[in-house]
Amino acid sequence: MKPKVFITRRIPENGIEMLKEHFEVEVWKYEHEIPREVLLEKVRDVDAVVTMVSEKVDRELFDNAPRLRIVANYAVGYDNIDVEEATRRGIYVTNTPDVLTNATADFAWTLLLATARRLVEADNFVRSGEWKRKGIAWHPLMFLGQDVYGKTIGIVGFGRIGQAVARRAKGFGMRIIYNARSRKPDVESELGAEFKPLEELLRESDFVVLAVPLTRETHHMINEERLKLMKSTAILVNIARGKVVDTRALIKALKEGWIAGAGLDVFEEEPYYNEELFSLKNVVLAPHLGSATHGAREGMAELVAKNLIAFKKGEVPPTLVNRDVLKVRRPGFNDIQ
Ligand code: NAP
Ligand code: GLV
Ligand code: GLV
Repeated sequence: MKPKVFITRRIPENGIEMLKEHFEVEVWKYEHEIPREVLLEKVRDVDAVVTMVSEKVDRELFDNAPRLRIVANYAVGYDNIDVEEATRRGIYVTNTPDVLTNATADFAWTLLLATARRLVEADNFVRSGEWKRKGIAWHPLMFLGQDVYGKTIGIVGFGRIGQAVARRAKGFGMRIIYNARSRKPDVESELGAEFKPLEELLRESDFVVLAVPLTRETHHMINEERLKLMKSTAILVNIARGKVVDTRALIKALKEGWIAGAGLDVFEEEPYYNEELFSLKNVVLAPHLGSATHGAREGMAELVAKNLIAFKKGEVPPTLVNRDVLKVRRPGFNDIQ
């Protein structure tokens, strides 16, 4: 009998096709997120699950899933999963690094440029007929934004995506400064990037891009005190996780002009609605679209399938998150009757 995998959302077909050869596959086919109580019911007899960032994978879920041996997250970030608890129970956790790095770095740049040059405001101005109504074809002082070329970009979190953002910054002739837990001497020489303590980075940057995972340490890492360190002409771009920024402090910063603008792809709660934030003209908002390209999403589907298939064959999944689990249980579904 094939092991059972439950996929909590429709993912690109290439991944599902790969999985069907090895698993009995069930997909939550509705557009809406799976209600929590339905998920807890669905996992009762599955050997594997494919989860999205919107699903909390915690003790309660594990308690409901006695056969569960592997959780393949359809994302690179895995703050939605209690990894420690999974490891303790011998449950493997995998993610989807690399395949979405370029798409996400491109999107950080999309937000950076759109915010710097006020693209959404300008688009609304044209589309709403306001431009025509005003009757001013071109004015030297209309919609002035921030220069990008030659400026300083500060990248907080200098892993796969942070470095990919930096590579693009080279083409914009920028000075690149970064912060991470550890220094990256190779990348420093390749890109001329300079390590800075967070406070210095915030003081010196014209653009701050957040590319850290959400952890206990990075929760509300960008708070009131730190926003106050930024230049009044600076722009903050968040493609990491909403909770890395204290939104209340950010709204204050944007309203009171401590910073010039923000480009946000992620929010403290998703889906998000906040009239105070949405009424501000100097923000550009997206509904968590970092990896939303055909190529990246197909790459993620393929990698999810590769992880599950490797595990089924008794091999270590290629992008295993919790290596310590190897000490608890061997890969494979063989111990399940
Ligand atoms: P990664 O390669 O693991 O890079 C993470 C970087 O963050 C590393 O440089 C790490 O430092 C640094 N870091 C971790 N904790 C830190 C701290 N307390 N202070 C400073 N730096 C810290 O991960 P990635 O593939 O680039 O992805 C990063 C995150 O982006 C994901 O976890 C996810 O939350 C988010 N993401 C969002 C989207 C989206 O759709 N918006 C898409 C993909 C990913 P060290 O190098 O020193 O370990
Ligand atoms: C998306 O947010 C991811 O972590 O892949
Ligand atoms: C603007 O369109 C210019 O030609 O400078």
